[in-house]
Amino acid sequence: MKVVIQPRDERTQPARIVPGYPQTPLRNPQQPLVKRAPTLSELTGPLEVAQRVQLLGGDIAGHGDKQAIGQLIHLKLRVVDEDGAPVGGTVVEVWQANGAGRYIHPGDDDHAPADANFYGAARVVTDASGSLELRTVKPGAYPVPDTHGWWRPPHIHFSVFGRVWLSRLVTQMFFPGEPLNESDVILNALQEPTARNRCIARFVPSGGNALVYEHQIVVRGRVGTPSL
Ligand SMILES: [Fe+2]
Repeated sequence: MKVVIQPRDERTQPARIVPGYPQTPLRNPQQPLVKRAPTLSELTGPLEVAQRVQLLGGDIAGHGDKQAIGQLIHLKLRVVDEDGAPVGGTVVEVWQANGAGRYIHPGDDDHAPADANFYGAARVVTDASGSLELRTVKPGAYPVPDTHGWWRPPHIHFSVFGRVWLSRLVTQMFFPGEPLNESDVILNALQEPTARNRCIARFVPSGGNALVYEHQIVVRGRVGTPSL
């Protein structure tokens, strides 16, 4: 199968250098890009990612006496290509802050309490319909260090493995109606409102004991989900 690495669509991707986001100058090239042909391993690997990595269940909210603190949410995620066809059998990695806005990471400071009953990460494979489900708690907002008042809105990070190393998509999902969405430097690095909207989940009234959200990740194309 011939693999085509599509060029970046600047209309639907975040600005490379974002004022107020001090890491962006460090993460983006300072010089013009140098074109080179991808190597064979870059175009063919990895094979069968799901068999190579340890899968972690999509239920990370805990049970019984060991339930994570926060609003229980049930996220129904679907991964599709630019034609809306399901991307089944792909590995999706998920990570997020706990209900108080703190990550399980040594680099996170102690601005908010840790939650021993919340693991904060999952690695799940989509089914034949491109779907997966995640039972978790809604992540809290958190302040970004050294930015004089920038708070990240609640969000969940996703990494979707493509067929080859070069086609991995790393993005974030936001929640509808969050006031901090309006001022988030990362979400608003996307110039087009339609591109921003593609990063915001849809709330589904359910009446159950969990808040239900649906979200779709489009792995490529003009309506592709932005890399964040
Ligand atoms: Fe984050």
